Amino acid sequence: MDALRRRGRTIGFVPTMGMLHEGHLSLVRRARRENDAVAVSLFVNPLQFGPREDFRRYPRNFKRDRFLLSKEKVDFLFAPPARALYPRGFQTVVEVTELSKGLCGRFRPGHFRGVATVVAKLFNLAKPDRAYFGAKDYQQAVILQRLAKDLDFDLEVKILPLIRDRDGLALSSRNAYLSGAERARALSISRALFSARRAVRLGERNLRRLRAQIMRELRRNLDRVDYVEFVEPKTLQRIKSLRRGAVIAVAGWVGKTRLIDNVIMPRYV
Ligand code: PAJ
Repeated sequence: MDALRRRGRTIGFVPTMGMLHEGHLSLVRRARRENDAVAVSLFVNPLQFGPREDFRRYPRNFKRDRFLLSKEKVDFLFAPPARALYPRGFQTVVEVTELSKGLCGRFRPGHFRGVATVVAKLFNLAKPDRAYFGAKDYQQAVILQRLAKDLDFDLEVKILPLIRDRDGLALSSRNAYLSGAERARALSISRALFSARRAVRLGERNLRRLRAQIMRELRRNLDRVDYVEFVEPKTLQRIKSLRRGAVIAVAGWVGKTRLIDNVIMPRYV
């Protein structure tokens, strides 16, 4: 990679935890189009999982991932063992303080510190020109944009659209946990978000009513709702009135699986 860089070639980087799906591959394809070389990391980062979270059972399928990436003509695949990134004595963390407080940060203490720390390390190792993240994890992407800016990483952080299955379910490696019946219930998340967006398109502007409408749908189908929030796209602050670009973000549980999803308010707001 150093040789490429010395010859002035650009490197696009896509960090992942593997168990790849079309969401990940959409980032890889964009990186492929915009750079001379593409690097992808596959690393299930222990630092971003809480003690009661699913680190051990997180789905892994290295051979399939490697095959999918070779089909996308990825140049570099980085899949280190945990002890290579976190050797004995490792103790430095990176924290993007304010942006990590709300939304998922409230329910997963330390999660974004783990994400920011590993991504800072990966940026230092890969030294990419551009790094690609999905709007599926909207808060994460905004945090990492901030991180790159605040720590003077000489790279561009790009946020690409959320990719869904045909039926609307946001693609996620964690969907592999869902039984058929659970998946059917999980569909209520995208259904609730789409119907809120439709209501906005038809003129609804009252956030309390919109929130109640989303909650009604979610409560019928999910086992728990962590949050339904309307936030400003850059600061992630709660908003009091709708405007273009506002994000409606949802997190909830189907059985033992935590799912997140969001929609971004388009032009008609
Ligand atoms: P992971 O969940 O594997 O996701 C890797 C990248 O793929 C993230 O940028 C995520 O937002 C994006 N992605 C996942 N599902 C997507 C979808 N349906 N549409 C579009 N993009 C999608 O996010 C992580 O891993 C980790 O936290 C990581 C950043 C790698 C740090 O460990």
